[in-house]
Amino acid sequence: MMNAKAFLENSTMRPSKCLLRAFTRLSPSRDTAFQSHHSRCINQNINNQDPYRITKLRNVVQFCTNTPSSVTTQVASEARNLSASRTCTKDPTLDKIISKNGLNVKPLTVERLEEDEKDEEVVNGDVSNIDKDGLENVRRKEIEEEAWRLLRQSVVTYCGSPVGTMAANDPTDTAPLNYDQVFIRDFVPSALAFLMKGEGEIVRNFLLYTLQLQSWEKTVDCYSPGQGLMPASFKVRTSPLEEDKFEEVLDPDFGESAIGRVAPVDSGLWWIILLRAYGKITGDYSLQERVDVQTGIKMIANLCLADGFDMFPTLLVTDGSCMIDRRMGIHGHPLEIQALFYSALRSSREMITINDSSKNLVRTINNRLSAISFHIRENYWVDKGKINEIYRYKTEEYSTDATNKFNIYPDQVSPWLMDWIPESHRCGFLVGNLQPAHMDFRFFTLGNLWSIISSLGTPKQNQAILNLIEEKWDDLIGHMPLKICFPALESSEWHIITGSDPKNTPWSYHNGGSWPTLLWQFTLACMKMGRPELAVKAVTLAEKRLQADRWPEYYDTRYGKFIGKKSRLYQTWTIAGFLTAKQLLQNPEMASSLFWEEDFELLETCVCVLTKSGRKSCSRAAAKSQILI
Ligand code: GLC
Repeated sequence: MMNAKAFLENSTMRPSKCLLRAFTRLSPSRDTAFQSHHSRCINQNINNQDPYRITKLRNVVQFCTNTPSSVTTQVASEARNLSASRTCTKDPTLDKIISKNGLNVKPLTVERLEEDEKDEEVVNGDVSNIDKDGLENVRRKEIEEEAWRLLRQSVVTYCGSPVGTMAANDPTDTAPLNYDQVFIRDFVPSALAFLMKGEGEIVRNFLLYTLQLQSWEKTVDCYSPGQGLMPASFKVRTSPLEEDKFEEVLDPDFGESAIGRVAPVDSGLWWIILLRAYGKITGDYSLQERVDVQTGIKMIANLCLADGFDMFPTLLVTDGSCMIDRRMGIHGHPLEIQALFYSALRSSREMITINDSSKNLVRTINNRLSAISFHIRENYWVDKGKINEIYRYKTEEYSTDATNKFNIYPDQVSPWLMDWIPESHRCGFLVGNLQPAHMDFRFFTLGNLWSIISSLGTPKQNQAILNLIEEKWDDLIGHMPLKICFPALESSEWHIITGSDPKNTPWSYHNGGSWPTLLWQFTLACMKMGRPELAVKAVTLAEKRLQADRWPEYYDTRYGKFIGKKSRLYQTWTIAGFLTAKQLLQNPEMASSLFWEEDFELLETCVCVLTKSGRKSCSRAAAKSQILI
């Protein structure tokens, strides 16, 4: 520890005051592996590229073999070995070319467009629609300019560098609670907006500083959550030193102060997703190749992939562990976490440098990806036909080939769902949660959108989800895109499931409120499925109100007509989500670097696994047929 301190004092990195404080937070009782990991982390110059580079060999790991390797010590010792090993000079031209699936692919580079050029950009041939709704172009530009101004005002700096954006920045708010913090999930749309504008520095800093926070001591009631956990948020605190000097301290919240002490399971997943996006948009792949960053990815992956008691490939989490960060009856295997988990695993698989010590992990990731997609596609999907099947389910089946595997009692199919589900088989969605004898039929928007974006759903399912949103436009979009979930919990359900939460009353906040930040993810999903016109329609709707309403966090009522009763104003991810949606529409090429297409290799793995238990034939044709489910 002393050596590391001495190193920091002598290093040319950030002003040492900013980092020394991090050491004082370290527990002296931490195990050896963790200590080595941390000092390795600190022994990196945050702004310099790691001199040690390894050539990437992608997809060289065999599928369908061996058991998971989720050992943090292994990861830490690997990092130790690597950071201690030789250095090699970097050829700058190599940064422009990455080796992907054996092919040399040129990364997307961001070019700044002149204002005039931007206006002429065409969105899949159809941006003209944006201009047909009565909003003058001048007005439109003003709104966008204000959004950029506000986004820049929300930037938080640490030791002089931008490191994130605060959740809300309403100057009239006298009790901001933790909305003055940088939330990991909230920063994602800000990051994308900056990246697409060609401003990568803030994102790079964010990724590196949050990586350091990952290693901090964290305790909730004398218990330390798993290594690799990323905080929900962090704050830059200023504390006085002697005379009139101050030091800045990064202070993370891992749930120990958060309302309800919720575990931020999604933070690490978002971090990985953003890391990939940073590489794709800037073309700077050196960041993800750094040893400390590689270790960060592996620690998150290992934490998520650790064996437990679970029978499902999906991730078992507590209530409130994602965007919905308070009790809403989503503990278990909520779709949102599964879709982000899947996206993060797909990202990790692309980014992890393959070598002897990582190949088991990559193999585990591949197997898990296959298993998750099979499980979700088979068991979470509902359309009219499937609901009818569930409605007629036999129960209490004891056998390996039961139809009603989870023993869902048909009475769970509530009247709202029977009325709501469209007649057409072209419409359907993935349910919110699945557990023994429990299927949560509510429509959760974020999970469904990320299933589309990451190809967790089949191509047909993904189209069907968008068809459903189009068909149920009034319910899911109404006056303000988009409902966080549908329908709201009412009466005794609200009472029991939310614990009588006065913020989550029916059609408010997480309980069926409308969240404009979901707009960018909707836009990305629409663009992936070749339906930008749907996104344009939603963006246009939001554009008419957001500025006038002072960029609220969420809207209330069945159709999203009113600004939410406890909604913050000047909410950053509302502003950034709007800007990102617009930029995505203007840059289809960039959008396409942010989503994933179907991966047949993964499907094949899944069929292979099933064959071992003698239940399905193993062939590429069988794999392909699966995508038609
Ligand atoms: C609320 C939201 C959460 C968000 C936070 C900061 O708690 O539920 O998703 O990260 O506010 O905006």
